[in-house]
Amino acid sequence: MEVIIRTDAGSGCMLAAKMISRLVRTKPGCVLGLATGNTPRPMYQELVRMHKEEGLDFSRVSTFNLDEYVSLPPGHPQSYHHFMDINFFNHVNVPRAKIHIPNGMAADIPAHCQEYENQIRSAGGIDLQVLGIGLDGHIGFNEPSSALSSRTRIKTLTPKTVEENARHFKDAAQVPRHVITMGVGTIQDARQCLVLAFGERKSGVVAKMVEGPVTAMIPASALQLHRSAIAIIDEEAARQLTMIDYYRWVYANKPEWQKCE
Ligand code: GLP
Repeated sequence: MEVIIRTDAGSGCMLAAKMISRLVRTKPGCVLGLATGNTPRPMYQELVRMHKEEGLDFSRVSTFNLDEYVSLPPGHPQSYHHFMDINFFNHVNVPRAKIHIPNGMAADIPAHCQEYENQIRSAGGIDLQVLGIGLDGHIGFNEPSSALSSRTRIKTLTPKTVEENARHFKDAAQVPRHVITMGVGTIQDARQCLVLAFGERKSGVVAKMVEGPVTAMIPASALQLHRSAIAIIDEEAARQLTMIDYYRWVYANKPEWQKCE
C-alpha cells in the first residue's frame, strides 16, 4: 500500500480532491465510489469549489456510496443520503440518475444488495473508491470479522461503532443497529482505493491497516492485497508506523509523472 503523509488533514483532503479531479478530467464518464464521515468533508468542499470556480464537470460521472443505515429514510438528517446531498450532490452536477446509495428502507434487503452489485457491474466497475476508516478497522461498515471476500449486504454494527457514531445522533439508542454496506470484496474490485485517515486517534488503526497482518479482525488490512491502494494520512495519524521514514522517502523520490501535486 502506498502511504502519503501530509502535514494536516486539510492538505490531505486537497490532494485527494486533486486525484479525483484528475480522474474526472481524463475519464469524464468515470465511476466514483464515495464515503461519508467527518474525514472526507473538506475533500468534498474542495471538489465543490473546483466545480464552481474551475468548471470541473461531473455531468457524465456515476457514483456509488459505500453504505447506509437500515431504517433511516433518505431525508433523515443522519442518513448518508442526506450527508451526501448537503456535502456534495446539492452543489455539483452529478445527474441524480447516476447517483447510487444503498437504500436503507428497501423492503427486500438481500434483493436490493444484489441489485446494487449488479448496478456497479453495469456501470463498468468503480474506478476510484474513497474510504475512511473506523477506529476498529472497519471500511464502509465492514466490522471486524467481516469476510474479506464479502459483497454488499446487511451488517450489524458493533456496540463500539454504535457508541462512536452516537455523536451524530441524539443518543446511542437512536443509532440504527443495522446497515447496508458494500463488502470488502466489493471494495477490493475497485480499480483504485484511496483511504483517508487523520488525527492521533486513528494512528493505531492506521498502523494495523498498513503494517499489521492481513486479518478479518482489521478489515482495512485487506487493502494490502489491493493492487492500487493509497493511504493519505497526516503526521498525527502516521505516528505509530514503523516505516514512516521510508514512506516519506518514497514520496520525495517519486517520478514527476507519478505525482499529483
Ligand atoms: C463510519 C462510516 C465509515 C467511516 C467511519 C469513520 O462508520 N461508515 O465509512 O469511514 O465512520 O468516520 P470518520 O471519518 O467520521 O472518522
